[in-house]
Amino acid sequence: QDASNRPQPVYHFAPAANWMNDPNGLVYYDGEYHLFYQYNPYGDRWGHMSWGHAVSRDLVRWTELPVAVPETDVMAFSGSAVVDWHNDSGLGKNGKPPMVAFFTGFNPRTKIQAQYAAYSNDRGRTWTRFGDKPILDIGSTEFRDPKVFWHAKTKSWIMLVVLAVENKLAIYTSKDLKQWDKASEFGPAGARGKNWECPDLFELPVEGHPGQTRWVLGINLGDSAIGGGSGGQYFVGDFDGRRFTPDPTSGTAPLWMDYGADFYAAVSWNDIPAKDGRRIWIGWANDWRYANAIPTFPSRGLMSLPRTVSLRQTAAGYRIAQAPVREVETLRRDPVRVDELLLGEAEVALPVEGGSVELQLDIDAGNADQIVLALSDDQGFRTLIGVNPTIKELFVDRTRSGPHFHDAFPERHNAPIKIEAGRFTLRLLVDQSIVEVYADNGETTITDRFFPASGKLRWSAYARNGTATIRSLKAWQLGDAVQ
Ligand code: FRU
Repeated sequence: QDASNRPQPVYHFAPAANWMNDPNGLVYYDGEYHLFYQYNPYGDRWGHMSWGHAVSRDLVRWTELPVAVPETDVMAFSGSAVVDWHNDSGLGKNGKPPMVAFFTGFNPRTKIQAQYAAYSNDRGRTWTRFGDKPILDIGSTEFRDPKVFWHAKTKSWIMLVVLAVENKLAIYTSKDLKQWDKASEFGPAGARGKNWECPDLFELPVEGHPGQTRWVLGINLGDSAIGGGSGGQYFVGDFDGRRFTPDPTSGTAPLWMDYGADFYAAVSWNDIPAKDGRRIWIGWANDWRYANAIPTFPSRGLMSLPRTVSLRQTAAGYRIAQAPVREVETLRRDPVRVDELLLGEAEVALPVEGGSVELQLDIDAGNADQIVLALSDDQGFRTLIGVNPTIKELFVDRTRSGPHFHDAFPERHNAPIKIEAGRFTLRLLVDQSIVEVYADNGETTITDRFFPASGKLRWSAYARNGTATIRSLKAWQLGDAVQ
């Protein structure tokens, strides 16, 4: 409970206290999903960067563990982790593969950023650095966020690292996780800005086209992204183990992971078993413009829900689609279902209780030119989630969602939405101070935080300049019932 009396999110991960930014070291091993993250053990603003740690067996119920990689002579910036199944590093013990983590060590004295590694023989509980020195150092002050993964076809380890201010990606390969050789570079391309950060690269099957796959390269952008500040873009193409080649058809306009302001540094889990087959990523639900100022206490920083990422062929080319991991459904309680609810100028209450809920809506836009769902607090602050069908626009308006705390925050974010035969569907996952909107079956998402003043949130809806009909509304409380 922070000073505002606003309830805390219940099904999105936050550490018990202090500052958190990017997800790091996402890896699955021996029944556990690991979530490491940029963490300040000493305060609720960025600093003393270390890797915080949490584990989960189902991606939605997390247990926070002690700091995994502390600040030493260098701060431990973002990175990744793998299970070294064949003990290529020789660091395994008792016939068990080691977990190996890669992070950027930032030396506050020299400002150099170089890549370091550490390993664990106890399921990620304790970590030992590979010596004192970096494993990859080019003497740069803008060289970070190593993403390491196994490339089966070339039987090699791959490391992606950004040359941040150059807006370039560097790709390295290794046979033993220790000696790294540069293979290629990619960029600048797509959206450019102050820096590129937190890269990721993975192969996805093309939905509905058995046997066909493409590679998706995710590049986060420190500023100038679609939501106004930091955000993620992606490229679709091919990867041969050394070089990423974007498809000529993926066009020149950047492709955005999310159209809100609060989905950043998204990276995916390594080593999810092949029989599961999902590609799952998670983002930091924040924006560098105001990240240090958000009015929460005792922690500052929240993760998005883990999301399954898939790839679709659309008329415009390949596009990713995202959905909350299906394990979220195990958090559903108290189902509500309403059919045929007519919307007009007069605002009507929706039969949905409070602010930690899932809503699925199938809406017929009728002749209205705007359909709005409003989430109001007890002081008249409200966050609007709406669609303007005539211009095929989805939006989240948080311009009046709570007391002012930063000039960049009170904004309206919009995205394209398809309206077919006057109909559209929306899936909303709301958790007290975050809304994740999934439209077009996950092809478009808007993730935004909002900070109401106080009290229990209330749901209502209306239409402008005509009438619309909610053909069906399904809703659930989300989160384990408090005993
Ligand atoms: C992204 C980022 C990374 C860096 C980390 C430092 O949000 O700037 O590039 O490693 O945060 O905390």
